[in-house]
Amino acid sequence: MILPSKTEGQVKWKSPSNIALVKYWGKYGRQFPKNASISFTLSNAYSITQINYTHDPARIKNLVVNFTFEGKSNKAFEDRIISFLLSIKDEFTFLSNIALNIDSENSFPHSSGIASSASAMSALALCLIDIKQKIEGKTLSKLEFTKITSHVSRLGSGSASRSIIPKLAIWGEHPSFKSSNEYAIQVDEFLHPIFDNFHDDILIISPNEKSVSSTAGHKLMDNNPYAEERYKQANERLVHLTESMKIGDIVSFGKIVEDEALTLHALMMCSDPSYILMEPNTLHVINLIRSFRQKTKLPIYFTLDAGPNLHLLYPDGIKKEVESFINKELKTFCHNGKIIKDQIGNGPEKLL
Ligand code: PMV
Repeated sequence: MILPSKTEGQVKWKSPSNIALVKYWGKYGRQFPKNASISFTLSNAYSITQINYTHDPARIKNLVVNFTFEGKSNKAFEDRIISFLLSIKDEFTFLSNIALNIDSENSFPHSSGIASSASAMSALALCLIDIKQKIEGKTLSKLEFTKITSHVSRLGSGSASRSIIPKLAIWGEHPSFKSSNEYAIQVDEFLHPIFDNFHDDILIISPNEKSVSSTAGHKLMDNNPYAEERYKQANERLVHLTESMKIGDIVSFGKIVEDEALTLHALMMCSDPSYILMEPNTLHVINLIRSFRQKTKLPIYFTLDAGPNLHLLYPDGIKKEVESFINKELKTFCHNGKIIKDQIGNGPEKLL
């Protein structure tokens, strides 16, 4: 009898975080979004994941995982990764006969208030599909590789599907786009040159853990009285946003992006139970941004994730003015003056 052969090796991927401009909030089935969303892929906020693997169907009869975060064991992360891998085992049968030594690290400090699930889950998905190719001795086309890694990322964390895509990504079915619920697609055609090197400075208002997990947050939408109207609104805003981006109408872009951030938080506030994830300093900084904009007429806008930290979005051409505004007026409201300077980025990178 010929035994299936043993394959050993090492893979390593770097994958970025992303910031949604039209938000995904509400899901159904196996991580399908209730509305389409769009995001900028970031550059400096990323995860690096390395996996040493041994695939040996003759000797390894289940999935063996040893996980470390920045070289140290981390039970909470390990449990999440194991349950994710078990959840995709039927689709990816090589996971039934493999030992994985996984180490992951983030470019941004742990507990800086930056959610790492998009970068971490996409880095893991990239490693897994890379391993699958090596075991099967097949190389997927770039397009197929992007599709399947975005799909696997999505199963780990919905928004992670968008991190696979360079620059600008849409995830979720929508009549106006060739998009899908299964994976995200690249939509560079909407990037007017004003978005070249576009900035996202993340103002860390509080580094504390979120008081509601995104899984629980999505679930709250099931009973939110505004849910259906919201899904319609998100899909309409996606059309208006991409139209504005295409012609470089940054004022309309900024209005929609800010409306989206506040809608996301309004939905949480009127959920049952209700959550207020902004801090007093979040509101303070929002007011400062708005009055600075009114005074200077400079195109600087904010968005928020499901937490208190602000993302400042602005074109490269006004970076000097924004830097001085941040230093003079905003820094003092950030936790230990912490700001993570980021920019629109080119997507994941294979390191090994
Ligand atoms: O990917 P999840 O399940 O962590 O959900 C993320 C949801 C938001 O970050 C609030 C919005 C988004 O579209 O990224």
